[in-house]
Parts: sequence; C-alpha cells; structure tokens
Amino acid sequence: MTDDILLSAQNLSVRFGGVLAVNNVGFEVRRGEVFTLIGPNGAGKTTVFNLISRIYTPTAGTIAYAGPNGMLPLTDQPPHKVAGLGIARTFQNIELFEHASVLHNLLIGRHTRRETGLWADMLFTRRVRDAEVRAREKAEEIIDFLDLQHYRDTLVAGLPYGVRKVVELARALCTEPRLLLLDEPSSGLNVEETDDMAFWIQDIQHELGITVLMVEHDMSLVSKVSDRVLAMNQGEVVAMGTPREVQSHPGVIEAYLGTIDDVSNLRRPAGSAPARMAR
Ligand SMILES: Nc1ncnc2c1ncn2[C@@H]1O[C@H](COP(=O)(O)OP(=O)(O)OP(=O)(O)O)[C@@H](O)[C@H]1O
Ligand SMILES: [Mg+2]
Repeated sequence: MTDDILLSAQNLSVRFGGVLAVNNVGFEVRRGEVFTLIGPNGAGKTTVFNLISRIYTPTAGTIAYAGPNGMLPLTDQPPHKVAGLGIARTFQNIELFEHASVLHNLLIGRHTRRETGLWADMLFTRRVRDAEVRAREKAEEIIDFLDLQHYRDTLVAGLPYGVRKVVELARALCTEPRLLLLDEPSSGLNVEETDDMAFWIQDIQHELGITVLMVEHDMSLVSKVSDRVLAMNQGEVVAMGTPREVQSHPGVIEAYLGTIDDVSNLRRPAGSAPARMAR
C-alpha cells in the first residue's frame, strides 16, 4: 500500500435481509483528490458512505484509513471515533439543528472532535477554554471561507434550501477533516447554486487541501470537479477511471439507460443545459 492512499476499501459487501446492497466493492482514495461515486438510484452509493462512517458494519471486506501511525482498520473503530479520525460527512437529506443559528450549528458540529474530557469541561480548565476559543475561530474562518457572513446569526429553519446545503458543508468543514464525504452536494440546487457548489468543492480541495469522496448524480458537476470516478450498479462496481472514461463506458451507459443505443443522451453538446443522469 502506498503513502498516497488515504482510504482503501477492499472486497466490501453488506447484506440487508435478501438485498445485497454492496457486493464485493473495492477502491482506493488518494490523498488530495476528488473521488466520486456515481450510479443509478439504489446502486449502493450511500451504503458505502454508511460503511465508512461506521453506521453499518460490512458483512465482508475491510476499510483501511491512513491514521497518524499508518493504515488503520476503520472497521474496528466505533462510530463515535470516526469524526475524531478526521472523517466528516454531509448527508443526502440535510441534517442540521433547525432551531439553532448557523454559527451554533457550526459550533455543535465542532464538538464531535473535542479532545477534552468531562471533568475538564465541568471545571472549565485552561485547555477547555483554549479549545472553545479555537472552535469559535474555526467557525468564523469557515463562515468567511464559504461566504456565509450574511446568515451567521440566522436560524437554520429560516434559510433557503440552497443556503442550508452550504451550511451543512460548513458544519462538516468545522471539524477540520482530512477526508470529506459529500452525499449528493448538488441535490435540490438550481443550476447557479450547483455552479457555486462546484467552486466550493474545488476550493476545499485546492485551498484547504482536503480529500473529497463524493456521491453525485449531476454529471456536469462530476466532470468539473472529479479526478476519478467509480460507477456502481446494483451494489457492484461497473467502471472506474477519469470522468470521461467512466461516462463513455458501455456498462455505465447501460446501467443508466438500459441500452447503449441511447449514448447520445449522455453527451451534451457544448453550451447546452447540464446533463443530469436519470435518477
Ligand atoms: N438500512 C437498510 N435496510 C435495508 N435495505 C437498505 C438499507 N440501506 C440501504 N438499503 C438498500 O440498499 C440498496 C442501496 O441503497 P443506497 O441508499 O446505498 O443507494 P444509493 O446508491 O445511495 O441510491 P440513491 O441514488 O437513490 O441515493 C437499496 O436497495 C436500498 O433499499
Ligand atoms: Mg444515496
């Protein structure tokens, strides 16, 4: 295993009753890249995220993650330790505290990586005070980074959907992840908001140096930001490669459209509306 691998999934399978949601899936995410999972509805993409987050335990296979002392079997870690290892995620359905302000949501998110213990917290020691100051600084930094100043003190319940998606991204960034999992960052966004999301993802990769593992349906966004793409269908890997290689792979076209005769639907002429694969 080489040093540039941040996460390695090997022979992963998970079964829910009669459904083999993920079947012998393997891939490696390299440090600093944007690696994207695509595939039709029910392909198993979110389930892969839930395996990495330790919400599910695989029926077979392993996930290894580059910790400070080499590769660490993630599957041995309890779910509450995952954030502390530098893995953060956003959800397909936004998960925020509706009746708290944007700033408070970011501070709550930050608490997943707290390093102080209960006694230290109760006594409000110097270390706790320093951690609190650092958390506030980080939250303000991310608010600036994602242009959320205008909404800083607004309750999440009062925010438009597009802004909530950015707040969820901000909440995940406040934990200072090394690996950021984004489950459908463009879902529910209009074309303009999706373009903005592409810029945020590129800035996260290039300015913050964070590795991104993303699930996404919007192929224009996928092509714009992804270094490599893995296509899944019915729990299995269909193809892996550059966005262009994967989009033109016959197995991928067939998975989305049922027939390779419809290939032209996937290739959009320059200047036309973004191609959105069938959902
Ligand atoms: N907790 C669960 N219990 C039973 N079945 C599940 C569970 N989680 C996922 N599945 C099933 O596993 C399969 C894969 O689901 P998953 O949510 O991973 O798909 P997906 O690729 O994320 O799809 P979408 O694009 O619609 O979000 C589906 O058949 C789904 O019904
Ligand atoms: Mg999903």
